[in-house]
Amino acid sequence: METSLHVQRGYLKTLVYSLGITLAVGVSACTYDRAPEAVPNTLQVSYQIDIKPIIATNCYSCHTANSTDPHKAGYAFLDNYEELKSYALRPSNASPNLTKLQARIRFVETPGMPLKGPMPEDDIKKIEAWIKAGAPNN
Ligand code: HEC
Repeated sequence: METSLHVQRGYLKTLVYSLGITLAVGVSACTYDRAPEAVPNTLQVSYQIDIKPIIATNCYSCHTANSTDPHKAGYAFLDNYEELKSYALRPSNASPNLTKLQARIRFVETPGMPLKGPMPEDDIKKIEAWIKAGAPNN
C-alpha cells in the first residue's frame, strides 16, 4: 500500500513537472512566433483619391498661390504635386528618420502642421503610407 502510494506520488510529480515544461515551452513558442511579426502595411493609398483631398481640406487655406489666410506660407505651394512630393521625400532637419512633411504633420518639426493642431490619426497614417510608397502621383 505504502509503496504504491509512493509510486503514485512519483508519477504525479513527473506529470506536473512535464506539464510545466510543456506550458513553458508552449508559451515561449507563442511569444517567439508573435515577436518578429511586423504590423502589415496593407494601407493602399492614391494621391488623387486619398491624399489630395486631405491636403486640400487641411492645408490649401495657407499653402496655395491663392490662399488668403493671414498665416499663409506663400513659398510652399502644396497644391502643386511636385512641390508636395519634394516635402514628402526630403529628410527633416528635426529628425533624420522622418521626412519634412511627416515631421510637420507629426508635430516633431515646429511649428506642426496644420497650425491649429494635428489631423485625425487616420489621415496622418494615409499620408505616411503614401510617403512610404515614394509619394507617387497615382
Ligand atoms: C493656418 C495656415 C496654415 C495651414 C492650415 C497649414 N500651414 Fe503649413 N505652414 C504655415 C506657415 C505660416 C508655415 C511657415 C512656418 C515655419 O516653418 O516657420 C508653414 C510651413 C509648412 C512647411 C515647411 C515648409 C518649408 O519650406 O520648410 C510644411 C512642409 C507645411 N507647412 C506643410 C503643411 C501641411 C502638410 C499642412 C496641412 C496638413 C499645412 N502645412 C497647413 C501655415 C499653414
